[in-house]
Amino acid sequence: MSSNSLFPHTGEGIVIDIGTGDGRFVYESAQENPRKFYIGIDANTRPLEKISEKIYRRPDKGGLPNVLFLQAAVEDLPEELSGVADEVHVHFPWGSLLGIVAKGDEIGLRNLRRICVPDGVLEIVIGLDPERDRSEIERLGVEPLSYEFIDRELRPRYQAAGFEISERGVSAQSEWPQFRTSWAKKLRGNEAREVIFIIARAT
Ligand SMILES: C[S@@+](CC[C@H](N)C(=O)[O-])C[C@H]1O[C@@H](n2cnc3c(N)ncnc32)[C@H](O)[C@@H]1O
Repeated sequence: MSSNSLFPHTGEGIVIDIGTGDGRFVYESAQENPRKFYIGIDANTRPLEKISEKIYRRPDKGGLPNVLFLQAAVEDLPEELSGVADEVHVHFPWGSLLGIVAKGDEIGLRNLRRICVPDGVLEIVIGLDPERDRSEIERLGVEPLSYEFIDRELRPRYQAAGFEISERGVSAQSEWPQFRTSWAKKLRGNEAREVIFIIARAT
């Protein structure tokens, strides 16, 4: 648990979701875990507009006291977030965020490490379709995320940035609802889209 005084003492830790999109994961998780504090961050303000307004309503109208949404890119996370996160999530990243976690970009990973408490957990979930996402995959130069690639290439790069990969795996379609992503519709029923997860611990 973090002792940073900027945030309410909700007791069970601070969770940061980077590339939060429309904030659904953050909102629903915050509802279920009122003693954790959630921060949803995205480089793009558009998808955040609705949810940012909703959290400030009265509690019976959907307001939530344990959530904050911020506009920031992973490349430029506010200093105030340094060392506060017990958990960092990156779910279904795209663009430069995808490039950072899927290629093990050291500077980008160090930015994620900076916001973690020691021993904090980083959870990454990547769902790519080699055909439909081909242009983005090629543009970013992302390699197929086989176990071999994760162990041989990503593990040492994550280590260099201060993360120890403790788990990696493929997530079955039946488990996807737990990711609480608005991307679920796009993902569901598409057998080609393999969902890979990586869990790492801040060293
Ligand atoms: C496919 S959406 C996934 C949204 C959400 N995590 C979900 O599971 O529904 C990817 C998000 O990553 C954000 N993103 C891309 N590059 C980013 C960066 N460098 N920093 C922060 N967010 C970024 C995009 O704006 C977009 O909202």
